[in-house]
Amino acid sequence: MKIFSCICLALLLGLGNSVAFAGNEQCAELINTRCQGCHYKSRICQALGKKSKWKWKRSVSNMVRYGAKLSGAEQKIVIECLSSAPVGADYVCKE
Ligand code: HEC
Repeated sequence: MKIFSCICLALLLGLGNSVAFAGNEQCAELINTRCQGCHYKSRICQALGKKSKWKWKRSVSNMVRYGAKLSGAEQKIVIECLSSAPVGADYVCKE
């Protein structure tokens, strides 16, 4: 029984990831590689759905000022996807 539920969970997680990655691959990649050096992704997850695009822009430029390594184009991608991500989006909220 325990083994069975493990397999189910693995399948569910796998499926969730591939769906999230289909549309937001680049954004997920950026968040995973550039946004976890100073705090957990949970910090970003908590802010989903609470900020306008303008506020995300401000947050992301703050991060860059603190030292996050993102080019102008990469910042745009991250701002775009974070301001439209649903609360609890897999690629932000799952480790
Ligand atoms: C160089 C270190 C550093 C990196 C890299 C970094 N952050 Fe932060 N982040 C911080 C610090 C320090 C705080 C707390 C101070 C604050 O609230 O501005 C913070 C707080 C936050 C907050 C909560 C405050 C707010 O503005 O809503 C969010 C959301 C956030 N970071 C998102 C991100 C994202 C998205 C990335 C990747 C683009 C990122 N961080 C990368 C240092 C960093």
